[in-house]
Amino acid sequence: MRYVISYVSTANPNTSNSDLIKLMDFIKYNNNVIGIMGLLIYSDGNFFQILEGEKEIVKMMFERIKKDSRHHNIIKMLDKEIMQSAFSEYHSSFIVISDQHDQNKLHRFLYKEKTNNPEHFKSISYLTQKFMKLT
Ligand SMILES: Cc1cc2nc3c(=O)[nH]c(=O)nc-3n(C[C@H](O)[C@H](O)[C@H](O)COP(=O)(O)O)c2cc1C
Repeated sequence: MRYVISYVSTANPNTSNSDLIKLMDFIKYNNNVIGIMGLLIYSDGNFFQILEGEKEIVKMMFERIKKDSRHHNIIKMLDKEIMQSAFSEYHSSFIVISDQHDQNKLHRFLYKEKTNNPEHFKSISYLTQKFMKLT
């Protein structure tokens, strides 16, 4: 069963920039190893994350993330099963975006989401663009 969880949160102000960069590198690496797709955006002291993959793995990861002291004010937005689309590309990977210049990455991600996750595409597209203050 494929599943999506998405949330926003506030970064802990004690977390330094270099710690954030290390964290994001680790997340990208680890999610690609364990088969979690989606994205993590860091902007103006806030995180926006989409976790997509096998239900058990996604739920287990969200439980772990919730306990992480590097952020707080976690507000969940999506927590749903994903209908299997005939055109899904499961080899797409997890991406990390930490500045406005990474907009191309976001556009490529949204383009893939349209086929991978057509039911939630509209809300994901809206939320990510608002979060990055693109609209
Ligand atoms: C905002 C935020 C998002 C995170 N997202 C992930 C993630 O998607 N995948 C991941 O492996 N760890 C993520 N982490 C790190 C985990 O909370 C945890 O530190 C990491 O998985 C290592 O867990 P362990 O120390 O129990 O092995 C995130 C942490 C924060 C603060």
